[in-house]
Amino acid sequence: MKTEELISTATALMAGDKGLLAMDESTGTCNKRFAEAGIPQTVEYRRAYRELIVTTPNLGNCLSGAILYDETIYQSTKKGMLFIDILKKAGIIPGIKVDEGAVNMAGFPGEKVTEGLDGLRQRLEKYYDLGARFAKWRAVIIINEDTPTKANIEANMHLLARYAGLCQENGIVPIVEPEVLMDGDHSIKRCQKVTEKVLKALFKQLEKQRVDLRGIILKPNMVLPGLKNTKQASINKVAKATVNTLLKCVPPIVPGIAFLSGGQSPELATAHLNAMHVNYKGKLPWALTFSFARAIQQPAMDLWKGDDKNVKAAQKVLYKRASLNNAARRGEYTPDMEQEENPKLTVMSQKVIG
Ligand code: 13P
Repeated sequence: MKTEELISTATALMAGDKGLLAMDESTGTCNKRFAEAGIPQTVEYRRAYRELIVTTPNLGNCLSGAILYDETIYQSTKKGMLFIDILKKAGIIPGIKVDEGAVNMAGFPGEKVTEGLDGLRQRLEKYYDLGARFAKWRAVIIINEDTPTKANIEANMHLLARYAGLCQENGIVPIVEPEVLMDGDHSIKRCQKVTEKVLKALFKQLEKQRVDLRGIILKPNMVLPGLKNTKQASINKVAKATVNTLLKCVPPIVPGIAFLSGGQSPELATAHLNAMHVNYKGKLPWALTFSFARAIQQPAMDLWKGDDKNVKAAQKVLYKRASLNNAARRGEYTPDMEQEENPKLTVMSQKVIG
């Protein structure tokens, strides 16, 4: 196994106050977001949108890595420069989503299992040659009256561990993403219980499959009440429930944890990350950062609307959102920064936090 390489990639992904941008929406998901924003759902619009993202000036100040999708990894700017080369030039490590989506689990109505192990070794070899140094696989856990079942958790965590092993064999750092969905009206307590069960099952499977925990990144949900629950939790309560759950389940040897945003507003996702750093400064064994998709991209996509004349304004908003998350990682984010046109963001305090 390429241990040194894995450790060095994982360390670079967690460096300083940086984080990751998930820009790996499958064609279906990207089209769904485009439809909601009134943007035509064509391959050229998807390409133009990804060009807007990767050519955002100074994005490398904020991001250590960006997760691409199979379609995007082969795409180029209008002038013919490969996106993957632009990212590398900006000091952003390219990653790739390799799961093939969540499908209904046979025999378990209402639950999903993620596909994508077939041929994965060959795909990883190809992505490595293209320049990807980390990958992502997302498992989806659904909270309902009688879900998640033990069988569903076990199946998904086993697949995540098998994927992680294959990535490491190929010198690629696996981002291991067991997402407990926010859909529903469950309480924060229920989310905490389920998240704990899922993470414990995950680390059991990772150990069984001989995955080197020094060369993975965990991408979990934050611990939150369901979106339809009328009793939402305070920012500090979410921060504490999340970190306490992670402290119970995630071995200290894991180098980093990078959250998904999961449908939270961009402002709340940033505020939650900030509160974790404020409350637990110097007390965390792993680095704690962001790997958001919607919570970084959404305001930019809404502004762009598929129109060339909005590209610069959208890039400005994208940069601001990313750098507010850097501030959150330093525990220096305040809601006032949202109003400021150019918030004073101490770009690049290089200390490793957490
Ligand atoms: P969100 O931040 O929009 O939840 O997406 C993160 C992600 O990568 C989901 O797989």
